[in-house]
Amino acid sequence: MIVIKELVKQYPHATTPIINQLTLNVVKGESVSIRGASGCGKSTLLALMAGFEEADAGTIQIGNIALSCDREKDADAFRRDQLGVVFQSFNLLDCLNVWDNIAFTARLKGVVDAPYQEHIMDTLGIAPLRQKMPSALSGGEQQRVAIARALVHRPSVVLADEPTGNLDETTSDQVAQALYSICAELATTLIVVTHSNEVAQQAQTPMWLRHGTLHAAPVAGGR
Ligand SMILES: Nc1ncnc2c1ncn2[C@@H]1O[C@H](COP(=O)(O)OP(=O)(O)OP(=O)(O)O)[C@@H](O)[C@H]1O
Ligand SMILES: [Mg+2]
Repeated sequence: MIVIKELVKQYPHATTPIINQLTLNVVKGESVSIRGASGCGKSTLLALMAGFEEADAGTIQIGNIALSCDREKDADAFRRDQLGVVFQSFNLLDCLNVWDNIAFTARLKGVVDAPYQEHIMDTLGIAPLRQKMPSALSGGEQQRVAIARALVHRPSVVLADEPTGNLDETTSDQVAQALYSICAELATTLIVVTHSNEVAQQAQTPMWLRHGTLHAAPVAGGR
């Protein structure tokens, strides 16, 4: 489902690449967690996979789309239809209430399904918030709205950056469980970046990012 080969990304003025010859293979429906020190490049890796950043070298294939080559129409349509992204900052639309924020991507794709949206909001414990505006929500509530928005159009791949970063421990566990179970329900491939061991351990394949590449076991030391 996701094949990444020899990916390299170096930001201007940095002395070394933040992603350096990184390789990753993920099968359909697999859940992968990525842990690693702050600043080691986790969000950068997700931004490359989502096509928000351009790599300096290497290839990323998601489904039938080679993101690094087909940057134009096909890749855009793929992102709209097949990708769900939970950002580290939530990026909710201030002028829309909770229900319309969540429905936004499904509307773009033309696949609004109100009962399914109810189900997801219920699973995430945000059904009673449907009429509220984002400015009237706590950080944790906004985070759950962002998760619902990423899932509601039934994407084949979900990229989640710190999806429980703003939640207390109990809510974090509940939201992580909801995220994993909704993805399992639909055989959605899930890549979740997190600092929480509890959240990471629920993934089928836990990984660690250090020195620009992914490892199957924690690597001692800093970045
Ligand atoms: N647009 C950018 N331009 C230049 N440098 C950047 C840019 N985005 C990130 N960086 C740098 O790249 C490094 C990796 O950042 P990134 O956000 O990927 O880390 P992270 O692993 O997600 O950290 P955290 O756990 O704190 O979220 C940092 O040193 C950061 O300052
Ligand atoms: Mg980050």
